[in-house]
Amino acid sequence: MPSKSQPAGKLISFEGSEGSGKSTQIARLAAHLQEIGREVVATREPGGTEIGEQIRNIIVHNSKGDEMCPETELLLFTAARAQVVREVIAPALARGAVVLTDRYLDSSTVYQGIARNLAPGPVSEINRFAVGEIMPHLTLVIDVPTEVSLSRIRQRATDLPDRMERENISFYTKVREGYLLLAKQWPERVVVLDGTLSPDALDKKIWTEVQMRLE
Ligand code: TYD
Repeated sequence: MPSKSQPAGKLISFEGSEGSGKSTQIARLAAHLQEIGREVVATREPGGTEIGEQIRNIIVHNSKGDEMCPETELLLFTAARAQVVREVIAPALARGAVVLTDRYLDSSTVYQGIARNLAPGPVSEINRFAVGEIMPHLTLVIDVPTEVSLSRIRQRATDLPDRMERENISFYTKVREGYLLLAKQWPERVVVLDGTLSPDALDKKIWTEVQMRLE
């Protein structure tokens, strides 16, 4: 338990499709938090630990990747998550840090559950098993129209797109709609932000939202 002088740890997850600008906003939020004296731990999924990075390679860059079935994909993403929760996130929260994670369990709900059509019951149970008690205090979904997201992916691709990036417009439309649905289901936790705003405007909105939750 945090002592009187130690602030309560907070977990903030960033979600949204590829090219939504999550990493820029995570860096900016980390800077704001550090300015007010908070310890910040930034991590990402899949990855965030050595084991997780190895799993990430299997999922995203494996040459046999296109043969991977959705069930395997779900179990690999959640395996990486189980590791980062216990190795990085839970200890940081116990120290009173603010943990910023680039994706968390909602990515599995949306990508494997909604977009890849796996049954919601098992996806939710496997997710719960992976995270234990560690749920986000706040989830920021950076929402961009599917066409914007796809064109940003194409612009930034320096080499061949990875296997998730090769998905088509209908997949990414499902991803986007999936996140909007989650925000309706969990309005206290999940906040949708307009990712077509300028980075500065988005940064201001995020910082306002986070300050309210830190109190
Ligand atoms: P990444 O290169 O990190 O993409 P981004 O910068 O958009 O986060 O690749 C992660 C990919 O894995 C991305 O396409 C989303 C997908 N993903 C899932 O499908 N399920 C998950 O549970 C997670 C964490 C990610």
